[in-house]
Parts: sequence; C-alpha cells; structure tokens
Amino acid sequence: MCGIVGYIGKKKAEPILINGLLRLEYRGYDSAGIATMEEDGIKTVKNKGRVACLLDIPEIDKLEGTVGIAHTRWATHGKPTDINSHPHLDNKKTTAVVHNGIIENYIELKEFLKNNGYEFLSQTDTEVIPNLINYYYEKENDKTENGFLRAISKTIKDLKGSFAIEVLNNDFKDKMFVIRKDSPLVIGKGEGENYISSDIPAILSFTRDFYLLEDYELAVLEKDNIEFYNLDLQKIEKTPKNITWDMSSAEKGDYDDFMLKEIYEQPKAIRETIGARITKNQKINLDELDFTKEYLESIDRIYIVACGTAMHAGLAVRKILEEFCKIQTEVDIASEFRYRNPLVTKNSLCIFVSQSGETADTIAALKLAKSKGAKTIAISNVIGSSITNEADYSLYTHAGPEIAVASTKAYTSQIVLLAILGIYFAETLGVVEKELEKIKEELLQVPSKIEDVLKDTSKIKVFAQKMIKEKNAFYVGRGIDSTVAMEGALKLKEISYIHSESYSAGELKHGAIALIENGVTVVGIMTDPDLKHKTISNLQEVITRGAKTFVVTNQDLENVTFDEVIRIDEISPYISPILSVVPLQLLAYYISKEKGLDVDKPRNLAKSVTVE
Ligand code: F6R
Repeated sequence: MCGIVGYIGKKKAEPILINGLLRLEYRGYDSAGIATMEEDGIKTVKNKGRVACLLDIPEIDKLEGTVGIAHTRWATHGKPTDINSHPHLDNKKTTAVVHNGIIENYIELKEFLKNNGYEFLSQTDTEVIPNLINYYYEKENDKTENGFLRAISKTIKDLKGSFAIEVLNNDFKDKMFVIRKDSPLVIGKGEGENYISSDIPAILSFTRDFYLLEDYELAVLEKDNIEFYNLDLQKIEKTPKNITWDMSSAEKGDYDDFMLKEIYEQPKAIRETIGARITKNQKINLDELDFTKEYLESIDRIYIVACGTAMHAGLAVRKILEEFCKIQTEVDIASEFRYRNPLVTKNSLCIFVSQSGETADTIAALKLAKSKGAKTIAISNVIGSSITNEADYSLYTHAGPEIAVASTKAYTSQIVLLAILGIYFAETLGVVEKELEKIKEELLQVPSKIEDVLKDTSKIKVFAQKMIKEKNAFYVGRGIDSTVAMEGALKLKEISYIHSESYSAGELKHGAIALIENGVTVVGIMTDPDLKHKTISNLQEVITRGAKTFVVTNQDLENVTFDEVIRIDEISPYISPILSVVPLQLLAYYISKEKGLDVDKPRNLAKSVTVE
C-alpha cells in the first residue's frame, strides 16, 4: 500500500526522502514522488514507476530544500501515471499534499470545488485535499498559522474515509503539517530535525523516539519543535515512545531476500515473543491482562478475527481454546465478520490479530465488536498501531520488523502468543491438565526445533526445482494440519504465482480429487498421531491417480512411499503449525527464487492492506 515519508531539519531533504521511500518499497507501490520547499516555493518531482527512477529526472538535482514530503502510491483511484502520482498541489500551487488511504466522498467534494472554480488534473481522490485546504484558507482570509490550521481542520472535518496526510504550504516554509485517521503515521523525533513515516522501519536509522499520532490528531512540525492539536485546535501534550527494534533487523544483511532472513529469524522472534511469559513450573505471566475466573466463565464465545496469514494463526489455536477452556471459538475473516452481523454480545471476547495492526478490515471489525459491547484484545507486532490504540487490551508479538510481503515470522510468533493466551485462560479457569504443561515446555523448545529444520534445507530445494513448471498444487492435512495446509498454499500462490489450494484431506474426495492427474503435486502435513492414518489413506488415493507427494511429518509413515518426506521433531499437535509450516515456507521461497521472481515484493500485493 502507499507509503509516506517526511523530513524537516538542517540537511538537504531529497536524499533522506529517497532513502526513506526505498525502505518503504516492500509495502508495494506503482509510482513515487517527492516535494521539497525551495526558496521560491514548493517543487515536486514524481513519476509512474520505481523510486529509483526519480533519480533520473533532471529536476531532482535542483532540490536543495531542507523540508520535504514524499510518497509511494499504490493505485486505488486513477491508474498509475505521472499525473496521478503524489504529491498533489492545489490550483494555485501553494499547498502540496501526500496522502495514504481513501477519501470515500471525493466525488462530492470534487463537485463542490468545481462549482467554486477549481480544476482537477488527476483522477485521484487525493487532489481534493490541497484544493479544499486552499478553499478554506482563502475563505478564512487569515494568513497566520492559525488561519491555515483552521483551513486544515475544516478540510479534515469534510473528509470521509481513511487518511494519513502531510501538508506543505508556501506561506509556512519552515513548517510541515500532518494529520491522520485510520491510516498509520509516526513522527520520529531527532536533534534539530524531525521525520515522518507511515512505518517505523523507514526512519529507524535516524531515531528511536517516536510520537504515535492518534486519529484526528494534528501535528505542526518545525526542525526543533513539534506542537500537537486536536481537531478543535486545542493544544495537546504527547510523550514520545522509545522503540527497541534495531536497524539491523530492518536490513537484509547477508541474506538474498528479506523473506529468507525472516524465515531464519523465527527462532529469535519466538524466543522474544515468549520472553518472561513462560517460566518452567510457573503459571503463564501475562501482565497486560487482568482477567478473572469469573470473567472467563461468563464468556459466551470467543471470536478470533483477522485476515490472511494472521487468520490462519487464529485457526491454529482454536483447538487449545475449545478443548482446554471449553469456550466455543470462532475464527473469522475480518472482511466477512464486519458485514455479516455476527452474534457478538457484551459477553463475547473478540481477539484481533494483525502483524501491522493497520489492516483496514481488521480495524473495522474491531470497531464493530466494540460497538456491540464485546471485550477486545489486539495482537500486533507494531507498538502503537491502530488496532492496539482501539482495543481494550493489547498483546505484542516481538518478531521485529517484518519487511517481506509474505508473512513468516509474524505467523509463527502469533501462534506462540495466541497459545500462551489460551493457556493463560485455561490456568485462570483452574484447568489442570498435563498436556498444558507439556505445551508450555514445548513452546520453550520450539525455537531450537526450528533451527534443526533450518540446518539442512537441501531436500526442499531439490523438490522446489521439480515444481517450478507446475500450474496447480494441493495442500492437505486434517485437524490442526489442515490449518497449516492453508498457510502453505497461501505462501506458494502469493510468491510463486502457482495456483494452490488447501483442503482438509477428507474433503478431497468430495470434488477436488477430479483435478488430480499425472505429476500434480500434493503436499501433505501429518503431525497428529490420531489423524495420520486417515491422511495417509487420502494421500494414497492421490498417489494412485498420479500425484507426486511432498510430506511434512513427525509420524511413522507405515511403509507408504512418498516422493519426498521432510522430517520434523516431535511436537504437541496443539502447536505443531509453528514447526510444520517452516518447510512449507521454504518450499514456496525456493520455487519463487527458481522462477526468478521478486520474492519480497510479489505482484499486486502490499504488506499492509490499509484499504478495504
Ligand atoms: C500473507 C500475508 C497476508 C497478511 C494479511 C494480514 O503472507 O502476509 O495475508 O497476513 O494481509 O496482515 P496483518 O497481519 O498486517 O493484518
């Protein structure tokens, strides 16, 4: 999705802005642009295409200003073209704006502005913003900073939708104005300089102190001062938060791709996510929550709501919640949940899982659950992200920045944290089960079990070569293994563009088996001893029909021969996806590499899906 960077300080802004945009490339985009404040006013350089192409535009060398805004665009309204790229200017070319998000009522606002003599160059929703600011600024007839702030505030009150906006204006050459609603924006505080970004990693090399703007908070930045206001322009106080992520975690280091690096970072991400939450022979420590036995007994239903991979993490832990806590648990896709009028009540507990914490559907689903009076927990990897601001309680995975579009370490860390949460509920409810102690012990051991898988990946690499020409693949498992099959199939399709489907192994016979023919790959996952015989039978059925099979297991395979078997360590079937997913992540990765694709930035996808 779109990315935003801003700089105000003593240095030339252009290289800092370009560097920040390059760091945001992973979000996915189709055009890029910057605007700096020069002695004779705002200058913009923008184009359809990569950030690096901006450097080929001669005008960029003339940008000397020390104040600037920048943007990578992921087209929503209007095709990717130079004109539709941000920044956008008002008709008088005095106000420049970059914007993330969507203005839902832009057609109405455009009509209003046209009726007042304004013209539009682009097909974007964004272009209404600088023009509306200009309209109110002229109408106010007050050329002070207060007059300009009133114009911004009135504009914002007119906008429907989501936005993170940076504004420059020729009358305030040493200032930058930013405001957000439902779209991420952080302010990095430096010494004699300040930074803006939509994501922390883009400016992590400059500062660790960040102000996290809440909805409708407006900031006026100067190089050595930041003032915050609410929408009624009353001053508010904010304190910066210190972020502990280090820069190296946002760099590729010796790895070819972020995805591979992040796969290998999983043991560390899990250890950090566990932190002091599990100690041998002690109850789970979740300081962030204050739930009592009585409260947990009063819950009518748990909903885990998320999108994509994060939703798969939810599916993986339903078994713990239902079997040990005896609370009915539904796992929902956020974009469905928000429109299906779910039976959420004030006795429901709704858990929202999002790596970025900025996924538009997940945020909307959370707001819906709150409006129905449910208690809400956010599980996120990003401190201060929108879902954590919105929820009653927040729990963080500590996976470090995840840059590759295909989620890997966030998924395994989410399952770890959700499993910890489930055990915490069970312990608070007074459930005493040996298996719970075993799961706790195994969570502590799982990082080294992943390290074992990562030590030798040669068999996976060889099998990947056999799959590169394929058009279809199937992933099957039963019980918890069917949830990891979903994640494996998603990984494959998103980065290798091979069509892949996941099935509960028992469902194959009800239709999909018609697609099995000579050479089609079927990936089977078997970690549950109670279900393995069944899955083995289902795999035999596809072998008979010519499929080649890739199996991830820690079970005895009863003398059945498969084309490739990746052995993983013993692990409780309550948390096995944390381990069994790793060969599937690697399989997708190696296929994508073999095909020469851009592993980290697959086509049409964005890291953070901040629009519906
Ligand atoms: C797939 C993937 C996506 C995300 C989904 C939710 O590899 O990364 O399916 O899991 O877009 O994103 P978050 O967790 O940021 O809400």
